Amino acid sequence: AETKKIAVIAGDGIGPEVVAEAEKVLQKVGEVFGYTFETEHALFGGIAIDQKGTPLPQETLDVCKRADAVLLGAVGGPQWDNNPKELRPETGLLGIRKELGLFSNLRPAVVFDCLKDASTLKPEVLEGTDLMVVRELTGGIYFGEKFRRETEFGEEAVDTCAYNVTEIERIARQGFEIAMKRRKKLASVDKANVLETSRLWRETVIRVSAEYPEVELEHVLVDNCAMQLLRRPSSFDVIVTENMFGDILSDEAAMLTGSIGMLASASLGEGSYGLYEPVHGSAPDIAGQGLANPIATILSTALMLRLTFGYSEAADAIERAVAEVLDAGHRTSDIAAGRGNALSTTQMGEQILNAIRK
Ligand code: NAD
Ligand code: IPM
Ligand code: MN
Repeated sequence: AETKKIAVIAGDGIGPEVVAEAEKVLQKVGEVFGYTFETEHALFGGIAIDQKGTPLPQETLDVCKRADAVLLGAVGGPQWDNNPKELRPETGLLGIRKELGLFSNLRPAVVFDCLKDASTLKPEVLEGTDLMVVRELTGGIYFGEKFRRETEFGEEAVDTCAYNVTEIERIARQGFEIAMKRRKKLASVDKANVLETSRLWRETVIRVSAEYPEVELEHVLVDNCAMQLLRRPSSFDVIVTENMFGDILSDEAAMLTGSIGMLASASLGEGSYGLYEPVHGSAPDIAGQGLANPIATILSTALMLRLTFGYSEAADAIERAVAEVLDAGHRTSDIAAGRGNALSTTQMGEQILNAIRK
């Protein structure tokens, strides 16, 4: 097979720790299945601010653009939290998503049977939960005009939220297309009782739904969805929603699986190119201690293999390896549910590595 080029931007905090394990998994998959991956590393986030004066150096963007896919760790940390906007790691993250046209963020949340005790929810509520959040990633309040101004009541800050019909249509279509390949149920989440952007969202989703008569569509207000996710998680199949709602609901969905350390993601545009990253952040509270769960990042590489490269057998092998290792009782501390003997980041990585086979 041809060589696949992967840009690796590990970032800050636990980013480099979890990405290192994912890279080993890629290497192993290459050996087992006969694929060749060529990785190119680049600075991104806080470390790029420190070394290059900007969170997303042009050179890093170029490395990403000439690759077939991007593997990203996480960015951010307290040392950059009081920086001006252009010198924040998170600004680099928003920039790279926008620059690469990655408007569709897929965040699958699957409850492994053997991890039901790792969640804070009751096992019987979690039974059978397997959902996918489809989050719009390059619009909404994240990217609207922001400014401050003086008013008679003192300084005022403004964030604006805008969505056009083209942006809504393409993410709605993604939601329906994914639902068609799954259990054909789509929940469109909005706040149409209050927000104008949500009213356009709902009208547009209804119009697009005519193209997908087989998909059972429900509209759920975001506050209710936050509640239903805890009440009846297994009834959800695909959830499609705007940028900020998707950010918040996916962290909530993570807790169904036991830990945010389990949640992988894929960010896609129009073609097969994609950026793959765990849903979690740089976790400064546990960084540098070997405590991070690498599974979210390892499962993100499985998504890369399946969605960008079309190597579905290899993707299956990674997912099987993760399931096997968890079934055997191996845990990092975030999913250990109070039991002792948790594995370190590298020990968990090694267990998964050893379980990868054709
Ligand atoms: P976080 O996801 O980094 O951490 C939240 C909690 O989950 C922490 O207690 C952390 O220890 C734990 N956690 C996260 N990942 C884990 C893993 N793999 N294994 C075990 N435990 C894990 O969110 P936060 O604390 O709100 O943010 C920290 C920094 O990360 C901030 O600067 C934020 O802006 C940034 N952030 C970046 C991304 C990203 O790069 N995509 C995502 C979210 C937050
Ligand atoms: C995520 C993160 C980012 C987001 C932040 C760090 C900008 O929380 O990837 O979920 O809000 O999109
Ligand atoms: Mn988030």
